Amino acid sequence: MGIIVDKIEIGPLHASAKVRTMLSEILIEAVAHGGSVSFMHPLAPERADAFWEAALAAVERGERIVLGAWDGAALAGTVTLLLDCPQNQPHRAEIAKLMTRVSHRGRGIAAALMRAAEAMALARARTLLVLDTATEGGAAGLYERLGFRLTGEIPDYALKPHGGLTGTLIYWKRIGPATIG
Ligand SMILES: CC(C)(COP(=O)(O)OP(=O)(O)OC[C@H]1O[C@@H](n2cnc3c(N)ncnc32)[C@H](O)[C@@H]1OP(=O)(O)O)[C@@H](O)C(=O)NCCC(=O)NCCS
Repeated sequence: MGIIVDKIEIGPLHASAKVRTMLSEILIEAVAHGGSVSFMHPLAPERADAFWEAALAAVERGERIVLGAWDGAALAGTVTLLLDCPQNQPHRAEIAKLMTRVSHRGRGIAAALMRAAEAMALARARTLLVLDTATEGGAAGLYERLGFRLTGEIPDYALKPHGGLTGTLIYWKRIGPATIG
C-alpha cells in the first residue's frame, strides 16, 4: 500500500507461522504495557497464538482485514478491520486491535494504520466505522484527532491487563454517504 513514515510500509497480513509469531509478540507486549486489548497480563504465547490463528483464518474467509506496519522485516504495528457484520449492517465495519510496538510508538504508525484501515473500508463500501477503547490507558485522544466521535462511556466494562476495572468509550465515524436503505 505504500511507504508512509520512516520507511514503514503498511499492507494486509495473511496467515503464516512467521506473521502469527510477530502478531503474538505485539499482542503480548501491548498487554504487558497495560494496553486494553481483550487479554490479561501475563498473556501466554499459546493463547496469543490461538487468537491470531483464528483471526487470520477469518482473514482468509474475507471476514476481516488485518493490516501490518512493516519496519523492514519486523512488524511494528497492526490494526484489524472487522467486516463480518450482521446482514442488516452491510455498510458498517469495526476497528479492533490497534497496536504499535513499544519501540516504535509516537512516530505516527497507529495514525497511519487507521488511515489505511479507513481506505480499505471505503474500498469495500463500508461507510460507517465503530470502535471502542478503554477509558483508562486507551487511545481516545488518537481516535478523536482522527475524527471519531464519542457516543458515550460504559462504566466498569472490562478488567485492565494488570487488574482493576475500567470503563469503555464507544466511538463512531462516518467515512462516506449513507447511501444504502
Ligand atoms: C495506542 C497506540 C496504538 C498508539 O500507537 P502510536 O503508533 O504510538 O500512535 P501514533 O504515533 O500514531 O500517535 C498519533 C497521535 O496520537 C497520540 N497518541 C498516541 N497514543 C495515544 C494514547 N494512548 N492516547 C492518546 N493519544 C495518543 C500521539 O501522541 C500522536 O499525537 P500527535 O499526532 O499529535 O503527535 C499504542 O500506544 C499502543 O499500541 N497501545 C497499546 C494498545 C492499545 O491500547 N491500543 C488501543 C486499543 S483501542
